[in-house]
Amino acid sequence: MQRLLTGLQPSGTLHIGNYFGSLKPFLDTYTAYESILMVADLHALTSLKDANALRQNIYDIVRDYLAVGVDPHKAIIFRESDNPHHTELGWILNCQVTVPFLMQAHSYKDKTAKGLEANAGLFTYPMLMAADILLYDTDVVPVGEDQRQHLEYAREATTKFNLNFGEDLLKEPKEMILKNVGVVPGTDGQKMSKSYKNTIPLFGTYEELQKAVMSIVTNSDGGRPEHVYAIHTLFRSTEELEVLYTQHEGRFKDLKEALLADIEAFVAPLREKRASITDDDVRNVLKDGKERALSLSTPVIERVRTAVGITL
Ligand code: ADP
Ligand code: TRP
Repeated sequence: MQRLLTGLQPSGTLHIGNYFGSLKPFLDTYTAYESILMVADLHALTSLKDANALRQNIYDIVRDYLAVGVDPHKAIIFRESDNPHHTELGWILNCQVTVPFLMQAHSYKDKTAKGLEANAGLFTYPMLMAADILLYDTDVVPVGEDQRQHLEYAREATTKFNLNFGEDLLKEPKEMILKNVGVVPGTDGQKMSKSYKNTIPLFGTYEELQKAVMSIVTNSDGGRPEHVYAIHTLFRSTEELEVLYTQHEGRFKDLKEALLADIEAFVAPLREKRASITDDDVRNVLKDGKERALSLSTPVIERVRTAVGITL
């Protein structure tokens, strides 16, 4: 079985765009692989300097993944900081690549252009991410388009390392970029994104969902509210929608209510499941994940240590 690994930054509340663009494709694929789901908490430190917020985000993201149905028996769910091999291999990989090479990283340029502090962690971020991947002899890494270059960096680090220390010591990973995953529009018709405040929360209360759905922008021309319809396609077939939107042509409020009912039917069981997952459950999943992650990464880090000469 091929090995699949992906990392998630613990960074706040998920929305339905995240579900259809990222979680759902993961749920549809992960059992066909030996899968590893890593909470990238060390990566989060490049931008988050609030211990309580980070701790809360870690609990939240694990709870979110369990609530949507990731089975911790079928995937290793663990925290990056629980396995010290990540920082060790990250350092070793930093010693293989050059500063000008790292300077070309789009994500570093984008983030600093947006005003994020240009700290050294943010700069060397791609090598910590490469370590996350290479430590597990990973075959495939499902990520969004924005992470494509980071996979190229991981491959470059592999090539450099193998050139310096021995062929096939580290395994070259491949990205799995999800095609055909449409962009879910937000309540204003732009891409749904937490940065645009146009989201429909995945685990929202009925009132939160109602507020979001009722705020969907509708153009008054034509009988079909475009953004309401676009979001509705995620929950119902086009045939069903054809009937509904013909019946209620021009009645935007009714159509929003129909959408709200469909979102609520989808979200309610997830919300309930999420509420039933305790902090202890999360800690137990991560504890078990830590052991399983360590058992996979130990032979790899030992191979690396021997290759570079830090064993006696
Ligand atoms: P946000 O834009 O809210 O900050 P992130 O960048 O944290 O979202 O995205 C996390 C994952 O969810 C990524 O894999 C991304 O491709 C996916 N995603 C985010 N927003 C959407 C959307 N509107 N439509 C489809 N997928 C999305
Ligand atoms: N950089 C990724 C992001 O921002 C998160 C991440 C960290 C990751 N380590 C990883 C993704 C390893 C895949 C594999 O989304």
